[in-house]
This record gives sequence, C-alpha cells and structure tokens, in this order.
Amino acid sequence: MNQTALERDRNDPLLPLRAQFELPPGPDAMPVSYLCGHSLGPLVRQTRALLEAELEAWGEMGILGYGKNPHPWMRYAHDLRPTLARLVGARADEVAVMNSLTVNLHVLLARFYQPQGRRRKILIDAPIFPSDRMAVSSQIAWRGGDPLVDLIVIEPDPGEWVVRPDAFVEAIRQAGDTLALVWVGGVNYLSGHLQPLGRLARAAHEHGALCGTDLAHAIGNVALNLDRDEVDFATWCSYKYLNGGPGAVGGLFVRSPSPEAAPHPALQGWWGHEEKTRFLMGPDFRPEEGALGFAVSNVPVLSTTPLHAALPLFDQYPFAQLAEKRESLIGYTIARIEDLALPGISCITPLGAGKHGGQLSFAIGQDWPWGESLIRALAGRGVIADWREPHILRVAFHPLYNGFEDAERFVEGLTRIIRPGL
Ligand SMILES: Cc1ncc(COP(=O)(O)O)c(C=O)c1O
Repeated sequence: MNQTALERDRNDPLLPLRAQFELPPGPDAMPVSYLCGHSLGPLVRQTRALLEAELEAWGEMGILGYGKNPHPWMRYAHDLRPTLARLVGARADEVAVMNSLTVNLHVLLARFYQPQGRRRKILIDAPIFPSDRMAVSSQIAWRGGDPLVDLIVIEPDPGEWVVRPDAFVEAIRQAGDTLALVWVGGVNYLSGHLQPLGRLARAAHEHGALCGTDLAHAIGNVALNLDRDEVDFATWCSYKYLNGGPGAVGGLFVRSPSPEAAPHPALQGWWGHEEKTRFLMGPDFRPEEGALGFAVSNVPVLSTTPLHAALPLFDQYPFAQLAEKRESLIGYTIARIEDLALPGISCITPLGAGKHGGQLSFAIGQDWPWGESLIRALAGRGVIADWREPHILRVAFHPLYNGFEDAERFVEGLTRIIRPGL
C-alpha cells in the first residue's frame, strides 16, 4: 500500500466517522473500499438500534407511538428538516421529507408546470436519469401536450459528455417565451458534472420560466444554496450520499418568501393539511405552512428511521470540511491515474472547482475486453464501484466513510486489471 495514502488517512480528522458505518466485507473478510455512495450509501451503525427502538415502541405502545418521545410518529420527520435545510441551503420550512424522488417530481410538476398559451415547453439536459424524463413527458401528455413538441432536450456537443452551462443558457434563451420550466440534474448521474444552478435559474427567470432541480446526486455531496440561487423547487432521494437505506423516503424543497406565503400544492391529501385541524376530519383542505403542505400521505416511519441515524453525522463537522476532504480524495485519485497513464480509460467528469462533487466517471474504451465485468473484477479486489451504460465506470468518494486507502485500492485494483504486468 502506498505510504502517502496511509499517512494521509492517519492525519485525517474525519477518520473517526468511518467507524460509524458498517461496510460490507470483501473477499478477504475485511471491509471493502465502498465507492458506491452515488448509488446506495452504506449502513450507518446506529440505524440498527434506532429501528429496534421503533419496533419496540410499536410493539409496546401500538397507536400511542404517534405521541411518544422522542420522535413522535405524528411529527416523525420534522426534526430532520434543519439538517436537510442546511444541506440544500434553504430555510427549514422550505423542505419536507416525503415519498420518493419520482413521486415528488410528479407532485411538484402538478403544481409548477402550468402550460398556458405559447408557454408550454419543458427544457431538460441529456443524459438525464430515465425516470425524470418519463415523469416530465407524462406530465406534458397529461396536460394535453405532446412530449415530441413540448419537451426540449439539450444534448452535449458531439464527442462530449456534459451540457456546457453556456449551451444550457443559450437553449433557454432560444426557447424564450415558449418555455414553462427548466428541469436539471444538479449533479449529473452519469458524468458527475455539477451544473451552476444559480446561473440556470436566473436565465430561466429572465425568460419568465421556472427552474427546478433533481438533487439525487447532489444532496450530501456538494454544497448547495437553493435560496441564494433562486431555484424554485427541487427533490431528492435519501439513499445515496445521505445513507438513508434502500428506497428510503425522499424529500422536496419549495422556495417561498415566508412559510405562510408558500405556494399551495396542487395535489391534496390529509398529511398536507394543517396539523392542528387534521384530526377534525373535515372535508376542506387547508395546507400546512411551507413545504409540508405538499405532503399527501402520512410519513413512512420505518423507512424514515435510518435518516435519524444518518443525518446527525452531517452535523458533526462543517460541510466545508467535508467538501475539502472530498476534493483531496478526488485530486489524489486523478493524480495517481494520470501518473499511471492507464490505456483505454478517460475521466469524463469535468474537473476544477465547482464543476463536480465526489463522483468520478470514466469512459472505458469500447474496444477494451472488460466491459461491465470490470466491476466484478474490482469487487474481487475488495473495491465496490458501478457501471452505467453505454460504457461508464462510476466511483464516488464520501468524506464520511472513505479515505485515501480506498482511493489507492481503487487505483491499484484498476491498474492490476488493466495492466497485469505492472
Ligand atoms: C438522478 C436520479 N433521478 C431519479 C432517480 C429515481 O429515484 P426514485 O426511484 O427514488 O424515484 C434516481 C435513482 O437512482 C436518480 O439517480
């Protein structure tokens, strides 16, 4: 093992956080280098005890668990809002925990996609996560539009993997007064590119359109400032960089000048109704203030519990410190890979300040024999990465549980697979 990596881990003040995670065992029964936080974050140890406590409460108290302490089920997700708000750069009343990402996108579009006259188009960037495109297309069709006409997809330039911000802004300008809204992946799921959300939101607003963003790959990964950037709405899932567990409950953000002035939701359900009169069981809907009004159903307690274990970890250190470590891990990995000049592999993630988060994506030469089996070969060496079509290897470094040794194991593993003689 490279001494520099070991040395840097020894000097890492965030290293103790790693012990808070259960990392799966590798072939040598030692914890793997888990570089898949962009897909599913690992288990936070404390989750087991908290889940056990909720099951205990359910068994012992039944319905009375809705009023128990701490974390009464009635307001089970409320305590999570300050941390989430800090992570997305918003006020706590502008965020809420509910549903999963695609469902939240539908909930948000039902409210914010209001095609009128010429203004009917939605602009998205490619490559976009398929579920987002499906949701957006179906919303257009549901409003009587034609996705072939009303959906504008801006593609990267030929030979490139990311839509450059200038091209994005130009596409917004060209759409002009036909544009209803822009929907953009904050951090692109394939390339790991971080878009300048403030710039895109301002460009959308200049042309009378709204701007929303998918934060699946951004929350807990990059510093966000949705209020400053004047993003209108956003949603995320919690199972990636937030470590909320498979299929964990997601969240959304709705910008508003004050809690009372928050936009009213289009879709109504009892959990979005104000708490103080919810159980009067009346027929009329009066939304809870802020983003909570967008809730439709009651909170899934057991799928929210892991977040009570995971989110406090983000409160232990300033986010800037996490970001600094993430940058060092990325810098280290890239420098090592460049040094080795590995053939048939090129980084497609734009590098440089503000252009990426913890994910690195590598295009693997198509004439190269490994393809997806590269992932299995890496796993055999105790490194968990993933593969996305067409031929992209993705790894992510999470400052809460990854260290330089993980980066080194990845680089070494890749080298031995690609150049066995080295
Ligand atoms: C960028 C992005 N958007 C949307 C989704 C879909 O999320 P969900 O299944 O929670 O709706 C994912 C899932 O991985 C994703 O990565």
